[in-house]
Amino acid sequence: MTPFRFIPLVVAAGTLTASAGEIAIETKHSALVLRAETGKEPLTIHHGKRLADPAEYAKLPDRPKTADDPSGIYGAAYTTAGSRNLLEPAIQVTHSDGDASLVLNYESHETKQVAEGIQLTTIKLVDPAHPLHVTLHYKAYVEEDVIEQWSSISHEEAGPLKMQKYASANLFLTGKHHYLTHYHGDWAREMQAESEELTAGIKVLDSKLGTRANLFQPPSFMIGVNGPVEEDRGEVLACNLAWTGNYQIALEIDPARNLRVIAGINPYASEYTLEPKKEFTTPALIHTWSGTGSGDASRNLHRWARKHRVLEGLGKRQTLLNNWEATYFDFNEDKLTALIKDGKKLGSDVFLLDDGWFGNKFPRNDDHAGLGDWEPNKLKLPHGIGHLVKEAEANGIKFGIWLEPEMVNPKSELYTKHPEWVIQSANREPHYYRNQLVLDLSNPEVQDFVFGIVDKLLTENPTLAYIKWDCNAVIFNAKSATNPQPSHLYVDYVKGFYTVMERLRQKYPALPIMLCSGGGGRADYGALKYFTEFWPSDNTDPLDRIYMQWEYSKFFPAITMGAHVTNWGKQPLKYRTDVAMMGKYGHDIVVSELDEKELRFTQDSLKLYKELGDTVWHGDLYRLVSPYTNDFASLMYVNEAKKEGVWFSYLVTGSRKNLGSGSPVKLKGLDPATRYSIREVNLYPGTKSSLGGDGSWSGDYLMTVGFNPQVTKDRASVILVVSETK
Ligand code: GLA
Repeated sequence: MTPFRFIPLVVAAGTLTASAGEIAIETKHSALVLRAETGKEPLTIHHGKRLADPAEYAKLPDRPKTADDPSGIYGAAYTTAGSRNLLEPAIQVTHSDGDASLVLNYESHETKQVAEGIQLTTIKLVDPAHPLHVTLHYKAYVEEDVIEQWSSISHEEAGPLKMQKYASANLFLTGKHHYLTHYHGDWAREMQAESEELTAGIKVLDSKLGTRANLFQPPSFMIGVNGPVEEDRGEVLACNLAWTGNYQIALEIDPARNLRVIAGINPYASEYTLEPKKEFTTPALIHTWSGTGSGDASRNLHRWARKHRVLEGLGKRQTLLNNWEATYFDFNEDKLTALIKDGKKLGSDVFLLDDGWFGNKFPRNDDHAGLGDWEPNKLKLPHGIGHLVKEAEANGIKFGIWLEPEMVNPKSELYTKHPEWVIQSANREPHYYRNQLVLDLSNPEVQDFVFGIVDKLLTENPTLAYIKWDCNAVIFNAKSATNPQPSHLYVDYVKGFYTVMERLRQKYPALPIMLCSGGGGRADYGALKYFTEFWPSDNTDPLDRIYMQWEYSKFFPAITMGAHVTNWGKQPLKYRTDVAMMGKYGHDIVVSELDEKELRFTQDSLKLYKELGDTVWHGDLYRLVSPYTNDFASLMYVNEAKKEGVWFSYLVTGSRKNLGSGSPVKLKGLDPATRYSIREVNLYPGTKSSLGGDGSWSGDYLMTVGFNPQVTKDRASVILVVSETK
């Protein structure tokens, strides 16, 4: 492991404290360097490649460009409002005496080794005119090249402090041209990428949706330093804000054409009051710098996520048979029993019962009623959930269940009993999203209720093996009936959500839970701490999924990405299956409608996934051929030992002649000296691989010359296993 370097060196039992100088937050390849002097605002003086000799950080100029900086703080590490800064602030407050100005000077810092390979640097700042402190936190995951960065704010003023803005991170990049890749979408159209050169002014990525905050835009983005983001070359910063609610990412080209990135909770309608001696901790911005393109940046995030963030990131995953598209709301015990048996026949690990199983006075027979009343519907399921769990187990398959515990339909007993638990405005017409409203998770009673729903199910059914946690509505008319601070609602909602998840995880630490939000409305590293996977989109058309999963893969590892074979799309079963197998594989189909070949193929694919899963879940992802600029997409997972690669290729254009791979694809990530064989897997019954012949190739050959997977209109999807020859 790369040894960590302390600058300057004043060490006390694993902890470094220093008065001033350069503070370098280093990872294996990168460094974020600040300059701090007592009584002055610390500046970011470098963010990029780590220098071989840390002593040379002292040579870095305060200002990288000769352009004017009349304030002297364009590069502030945490820019304040109301004093001499004239650019976008990271923090804006009104002190208890009404003063709306803030200056944050360096006071002290320390670096601690908090775990093997993890260094936490904290920098204390103080306002010289008020007893207000901000601590900047930088957690460096040295091997993974990832920095988790957040802030905490506290004060000892005479009364409450009002905070209008309280960002997590304030980055500063000094290249000449700055490029941004960001994402937008809507239901079933998640993760549409857009890239552009940033021009003077401020570009804002944000969400004001409250819950399913990523529906229109996720808090994931990449910055290309001095050039557009490229896969295998150039400086790239890949970021995700770990916050499952309203966020704002402001990217400002300053007058000297530096890029200032200020990311955090959205200040929109969220003034936060902080009582004396209390601390407010912001969520973290997760970022990684790569000098070798977005491929390495993604692999950094994936390794970090698996090892340090996603629940059971180094563990295994189960395959699911979900009944949603097979039945929608229309089922009963007999129908489910038959589907459970089908799940076993298919070879899935878990049968997942989706929406529609609850509500009695207001039965959940469509999406107009029942949310909030989490009692099994007596007509559909007279023997309750326990009976189905047992039925599944008797058939040799586990049982999982769908929940949407944060929501309520006005047509529900819950709504009648507790209208004060619902986010709505008394003087406005209610406005619904999917006929439902959002429960006020800023209210501790609601938190208990939501925890109780899950806890009751799991207490009554201790072998329940899986939960799909949905969240379909955004927040309209954002008003809490109980929160004493109306403008805290958006923030306290997310904190309440995390409180519930913390409680659940204390009691049920490893239970697999899918983060779903009407598709990909929630995909961030704040929530993924508590979840094992997420549902990228309700759109499971494999052609669309190739692009979506390609983009999600820039930030999230395959082990987190639910991907099911469904009846969306016109592609043959093999194509749909091959696409789902590049993620966390599962099904949402009517098994009884499969013909004999289809059934055999699917059964075999599930067995194959058991063999290949380890490499897909835990291997390094190499994006080989982009679907945007080619007739086909190609990507490969390579396991850590570089002994096995699982290589997926998909034709993405129509079926015109001569489209396809045509020539060899250069592989990546193999060991040049190892010899590999290549075999085609997941062949449809009755078909043969056109690759033919045995043979072995050195990793050097495969990465220099390449290998043609022979993607053609008749071989529209191809899975190859590249294995070390024994
Ligand atoms: C959301 C989910 C779907 C399904 C339905 C059930 O749309 O994304 O997968 O669970 O809810 O109502």
